Amino acid sequence: MSRPLIGVVGAGFVGATAAQRIVEKELGDLILADIIEGMPQGKALDLAQTGPVEGYDARSKGSSTVDDLKGCDLIVMTAGLPRKPGMTREDLLEKNAAIVGGVADKIKANSPNAIVIVVSNPLDVMTQLMLRRTGFPKNRVIGMAGVLDAARFAHFIAEKLDCSIKDVRTMVLGGHGDTMVPLPRYTTVSSIPVSELIPAAELDKLIKRTRDGGAEIVSLLKTGSAYYAPSAAAVAMAESILLDQKRILPCCVMLEGEYGIKGVCVGVPVKLGARGVEQIIELKLNSDELAPLKASAEKVREGTNYLKI
Ligand code: NAI
Ligand code: 2OP
Repeated sequence: MSRPLIGVVGAGFVGATAAQRIVEKELGDLILADIIEGMPQGKALDLAQTGPVEGYDARSKGSSTVDDLKGCDLIVMTAGLPRKPGMTREDLLEKNAAIVGGVADKIKANSPNAIVIVVSNPLDVMTQLMLRRTGFPKNRVIGMAGVLDAARFAHFIAEKLDCSIKDVRTMVLGGHGDTMVPLPRYTTVSSIPVSELIPAAELDKLIKRTRDGGAEIVSLLKTGSAYYAPSAAAVAMAESILLDQKRILPCCVMLEGEYGIKGVCVGVPVKLGARGVEQIIELKLNSDELAPLKASAEKVREGTNYLKI
């Protein structure tokens, strides 16, 4: 029995950090691909030489062509341009669509059985593009955003309460962007509803900061966007799939009537196991929660209609 083969497309900040987490957790052997000559090979060799220090056996290989991703079990797609200060995620739409569409064709040809985790922005539209272009079943193409957005919300809550992050559980649905839908009613601290611990007005401030979470880091970094938490979020999803953990996590998936939303990829809670998305969980949302989720899905649909996908 061999280790799973995990492809990471894009050896930039998110891809390289995800690659590091993958080998350190020994989730499988790694192939790291980028279009830049030498850089993915150099990072893969560096990761391989870290093995003796960190004590992992996972193998790492780099490549300057996505064609080398042959027979992967799981692929993390991070290729694309990051958002710059003042740029919206939608500004990235056309440029990243060309990149994601091209990579999708190669994944379809060379790793037809892979489960694909999409990270490239604008996330929900790129997930749908990956799904359509590969023609893979919807359980095998999953976008990463909700785990990151929920982690940001959880961090702000733990910081506000001066309590351990370990006890905070949050849920963020919808598209990855200004229309995301953090759900205070499904947020607990050691099983205590957050509404019993933080006044509504204060919680609203944390929700706003969560919505602006990506932009806050972009404006601090000046060039590029967040990558520690995004790579951790993508690898948490990969781990749940590769170890068949069946974690229930907010992920971007194709909806076909769930939540009254049809034909668009958007973030909802799903069970992630060996078959990818094994179940879409339908929460009993009230109208104040469902309306913004539907509005968020319609915002994603504007992008998918624009690209005709
Ligand atoms: P980066 O610029 O550091 O890395 C991107 C890499 O993709 C570069 O090395 C580039 O050479 C490579 N690339 C471009 N075209 C390619 C192709 N056709 N095939 C293979 N590689 C290609 O950017 P970073 O920070 O790693 O971000 C990557 C993407 O992830 C961006 O679109 C960013 O907006 C997105 N992102 C999404 C998040 C989410 O929550 N879904 C969170 C953080 C980033
Ligand atoms: C983030 O939320 C840029 O989407 C990226 O950090």
